Amino acid sequence: MYKKLIEKAVEARKNAYVPYSKFIVGAAVKTKEGKYFTGCNIESASFTPTICAERTAISKAVSEGYREFEAIAVVGSLEDYTYPCGVCRQFIVEFGKNTKVIIAKNTEEYKVYKISDLLPNSFGPEDMKDV
Ligand code: THU
Repeated sequence: MYKKLIEKAVEARKNAYVPYSKFIVGAAVKTKEGKYFTGCNIESASFTPTICAERTAISKAVSEGYREFEAIAVVGSLEDYTYPCGVCRQFIVEFGKNTKVIIAKNTEEYKVYKISDLLPNSFGPEDMKDV
């Protein structure tokens, strides 16, 4: 079901810029319209500016005018499941609590979560609507 999305994340992983950690990560997001955007992690010598693959992919989609996401796949280590970091969970929930997060080793081995299960009781846009 998520074969194409995972394949795109695996492909994007190849572009990771990781001179410091050497840990390559790829992500792919599918919009409600059926469009795909991919991303990889990009590190910085100053460390803090490092951006994860998931945030790269979502930033590409949002900056192209897409804000509603069906699913996002993330592929880090091929031997183990790589879960999105806390910052990425927050970034994903910004655009919807129902987005599926596919955590994959490959197209055969993956786990499917809803972002609201990975980040329960989150603080999100609805909490800012009265300000
Ligand atoms: N990384 C991601 O790209 N996504 C995650 O969800 C976890 C961590 C990256 C950031 C950094 O380049 C490397 O993995 C090691 O932390």
